[in-house]
Amino acid sequence: MAKAKTSFICQSCGAVYARWQGKCEACGEWNTIVEESSAGGVAGGPQRSRRRGTPSKLLPLSGEKEEAPRIASGIAELDRATGGGIVRGSAILIGGDPGIGKSTLLMQASSALARKGASVVYVSGEEAVAQVRLRAERLDAADTSVQLMAETNVEDILATLAANGRPDLVIIDSIQTLWSDLAESAPGTVTQVRTGAQSLIRFAKASGAAVILVGHVTKEGQIAGPRVVEHMVDAVLYFEGEGGHHYRILRTVKNRFGPTDEIGVFEMGDKGLREVPNPSELFLGERSNKAPGAAVFAGMEGTRPVLVEIQALVAPSSLGTPRRAVLGWDAPRLAMVLAVLEARCGVRLGQHDVYLNVAGGFRISEPAADMAVAAALVSSLSGVTLPAASVYFGEVSLSGATRPVAHSGQRLREAEKLGFSSATIPANIPDLARGSLNLSEIETLGELVAAIAAGSLAEHESGRDRPAPMPS
Ligand code: TYD
Ligand code: MG
Repeated sequence: MAKAKTSFICQSCGAVYARWQGKCEACGEWNTIVEESSAGGVAGGPQRSRRRGTPSKLLPLSGEKEEAPRIASGIAELDRATGGGIVRGSAILIGGDPGIGKSTLLMQASSALARKGASVVYVSGEEAVAQVRLRAERLDAADTSVQLMAETNVEDILATLAANGRPDLVIIDSIQTLWSDLAESAPGTVTQVRTGAQSLIRFAKASGAAVILVGHVTKEGQIAGPRVVEHMVDAVLYFEGEGGHHYRILRTVKNRFGPTDEIGVFEMGDKGLREVPNPSELFLGERSNKAPGAAVFAGMEGTRPVLVEIQALVAPSSLGTPRRAVLGWDAPRLAMVLAVLEARCGVRLGQHDVYLNVAGGFRISEPAADMAVAAALVSSLSGVTLPAASVYFGEVSLSGATRPVAHSGQRLREAEKLGFSSATIPANIPDLARGSLNLSEIETLGELVAAIAAGSLAEHESGRDRPAPMPS
């Protein structure tokens, strides 16, 4: 009898090895490689077939379009992240840490869609029907036409869907609980997850129903993570949040039918997730503007401006090598700004500990935060409080020159909308829509340092602002 073929598959990224090893060379994770039977299934590669191909029909690119190709949920933050609604016949992956709120979000989305007349099937592989109902009651979603199924076998799920007419949306919570008769390995392995996902994606394309797959991000390699199906789906969204904070961000990382880098912002409460239409208000919520070391950064997340407070603490160090701790921003980027301040502006930080924190647990990924970070650092070191109603943005180059960043006009407009009166920005921004803010246009970081020390940033030149803080 032929021996069943096995291969060793990384549960984190799906890389295949001939023999077991401790570390996956593809993704660098340890202990994620698991032996799986490769008879059939996706990882086993195509089966040799004697079947002759049957010809399919070729279609013109300019063919008829379906009317209403998108189903909007009415939850604006979700629709924004999906690029204007869920596309019919598409497969969407929503990944996130266990307990972050994926099931909550999707239950709320299901009921919102059902209220708008869509037929939604919620397949729960993790919770029993009674548990799902209990949650729905808590979310005020119980009185809708959402249909439930507690099932984990892919063939059974597809048979049930086929027997009950074509739904508009199918939610599979979660892909890690799926198992298919076509694959022999245990549920939760890469082969099972991929086989199950592929069957459901095929169902989506053939039937025109949208399918949302939930995938838990896994720290250990015991079950396959959502990354192993990212390439198969049309859109990938990650639901993120910081421990200890109530807000959640739905981040688009791939979207075949819309923009990426979009975010939807939610707040988790006792009645489920609440939309946060204006994230700046959330992140600026607990701002105290009397202490030195705080600067408001006018940032962008995808197409939407987000204002966040950057807090710095610069204190004399008792250590041989001073500490540099940073939360919510890039540590190498902080090191660069510190080096430019030292080398180009004569700001001595070598004997100081530096702590940098982005308020609200937000994560900034833009280099445009350089100027705001520098302003916060200099303010903390000098003890000069920055003007409260002022925002900062701009990139800093190694020479100490400031560099314009994209979407400057939009950043300024958002600051204006939220009641800020001045902005410190790089000089020479092309085609800048100035608005009514007082602008300090800065050519070098040295100018910024001098202006902070002299308390002469733009705000104080205009009559409507509070008095200038004096350097201490
Ligand atoms: P859940 O949606 O089950 O997370 P996931 O599906 O991503 O694993 O959310 C679980 C967490 O959300 C849990 O810690 C409790 C919290 N939660 C609330 O705070 N309020 C609510 O109304 C609900 C339903 C959950
Ligand atoms: Mg869940």
